[in-house]
Amino acid sequence: MTAVLFIHGFPFDHAMWRHQVTALSRWQSIAPDLPGVGETRGPESTDEYSVALYAADLVAVLDRLKVEQAVICGLSMGGYIAFELLRSHAQRVRGAILCNTKAAADTPEAKRDRDAMAMLAKQSGSSAIAEALLPKLLARATFERRPEIVSEVRGMMTRVPVPGIVGALHALRERSDSTPLLKTIHVPVLVIAGEEDQIAPAAGMREMADAIPGARFVLIPEAGHVAPLERPDAVNTAIGDFLRKLS
Ligand code: MLT
Repeated sequence: MTAVLFIHGFPFDHAMWRHQVTALSRWQSIAPDLPGVGETRGPESTDEYSVALYAADLVAVLDRLKVEQAVICGLSMGGYIAFELLRSHAQRVRGAILCNTKAAADTPEAKRDRDAMAMLAKQSGSSAIAEALLPKLLARATFERRPEIVSEVRGMMTRVPVPGIVGALHALRERSDSTPLLKTIHVPVLVIAGEEDQIAPAAGMREMADAIPGARFVLIPEAGHVAPLERPDAVNTAIGDFLRKLS
């Protein structure tokens, strides 16, 4: 049975994939929390967090489950980690699903924003981070018509421990540019974009898909940056179609 490794974004946890894990039950779903999130221990110092550390932790999860190869499915930061798996652990990757993500590294301005956010997390806690990020995360339709999704996303961010947030911000600001990797990817790839994503805009995701040999691109209407929670049915259809062609 094909295994799918779901990799959550920042500052989220495994629960962001709950609809996919339920709906895609004919495949083996693996949806861990990354180091510093939930029950998964992070390194002692937040400076030790990196995209490579997250990727190595996921390889260890596959090893423990005796899964030789998986389809990796990452959202945003999970996508950055997926690029690292493709770069450094390619033999473990059967295919890749890249949701709401981008290949470029942080600009100097984005790095300054990461530092300000780390300061805010240390001073005011996870709920301040949740309030600061929320307006950018969801589509207009989600805010207007789906208050339960807004609460779910806020709750998920609020429960991420501060060291996990600060460590992730360090990993994000230090990550390398994955643009040169794109043309070298030779496994099947599905790219899923949210029409109203403000963090990983759909136009950039389409360009990213065009740069990956043979990649499929799916645009999810009325979705922002958290398409798997905002439009689960559309995302599940896209992922299910992709997986059926692989297995
Ligand atoms: C995420 O959802 O993982 C974050 O938006 C990633 C980022 O801030 O670059």
